[in-house]
Amino acid sequence: MKDEQHSESAQEHAYPETTAGKPTVEDNAKVSARGANVYYGEKQAIKNVSLDVGAHEVTAFIGPSGCGKSTFLRALNRMNDTIDICRVTGDFRLDGEDIYDRKVDVVQLRARVGMVFQKPNPFPKSIFENVAYGPRIHGLVAHKSELDEIVHTSLERAGLLGEVKDRLDTPGTGLSGGQQQRLCIARAIAVSPEVILMDEPCSALDPIATAKIEELIDELRENYTIVIVTHSMQQAARVSQRTAFFHLGNLVEMGDTETIFTNPEHKLTQGYITGRFG
Ligand SMILES: Nc1ncnc2c1ncn2[C@@H]1O[C@H](COP(=O)(O)OP(=O)(O)O)[C@@H](O)[C@H]1O
Ligand SMILES: [Mg+2]
Repeated sequence: MKDEQHSESAQEHAYPETTAGKPTVEDNAKVSARGANVYYGEKQAIKNVSLDVGAHEVTAFIGPSGCGKSTFLRALNRMNDTIDICRVTGDFRLDGEDIYDRKVDVVQLRARVGMVFQKPNPFPKSIFENVAYGPRIHGLVAHKSELDEIVHTSLERAGLLGEVKDRLDTPGTGLSGGQQQRLCIARAIAVSPEVILMDEPCSALDPIATAKIEELIDELRENYTIVIVTHSMQQAARVSQRTAFFHLGNLVEMGDTETIFTNPEHKLTQGYITGRFG
């Protein structure tokens, strides 16, 4: 493994051999990474990260900008495969199955591990078609009535149905930002994912729309496993059960959200949560 690219400040801070806190779970791991490294060309963006994401929990990834949160998130459903210079090593598992096995169909994988992005990105299609698209291309439905059912259930679960049920044939792009983001969540839900990855899903939203999404995330936990990247520590504290703190590509500390925010082990975590850097 190449590891020649330690930045000066990483050496200054003398990272622990292993991550502080409790990066793994006892028996309910939905996603596991062991010895994960991600490189962009020669630059290493993720350094020997091992962690578990517990089933039916919300796991938050926090840390300063550029520390590798999005990079690590994208490794979990192989979205990094779409970046030419990106190389991923280490062991990644979903329910114990190797995510990077040659036999894995990445389209299927990304249906099981869905993604919601920072900026709401509905297709330039109707609200109905935005949600119907996935089930159609995955061949999940035989009849129009089944498709109707999936579209309605997904919109309902995403907390949007009440606001849009009378205008399903109007463009998704005509909705407010917060509604568009819930539409994107409905679109992810429509293909029955097991895990939903959210990369700063509220950073383009106002506080009211943000509060709605946060409430929704808490409800979704019942049926899905959620990983959320957020630059807002308040948001991480509000929505997550476990929190992972990344710094310069290292997983410095991970544990129960309450512990991370009230009694972290590592000096870097303390510094970050008390706003001394970031
Ligand atoms: N497509 C890319 N090509 C080259 N470098 C990238 C790319 N995406 C991210 N990086 C680099 O990887 C590091 C981690 O980035 P990122 O995962 O986006 O951090 P975060 O989400 O924590 O802000 C940064 O140094 C960033 O510049
Ligand atoms: Mg990011």
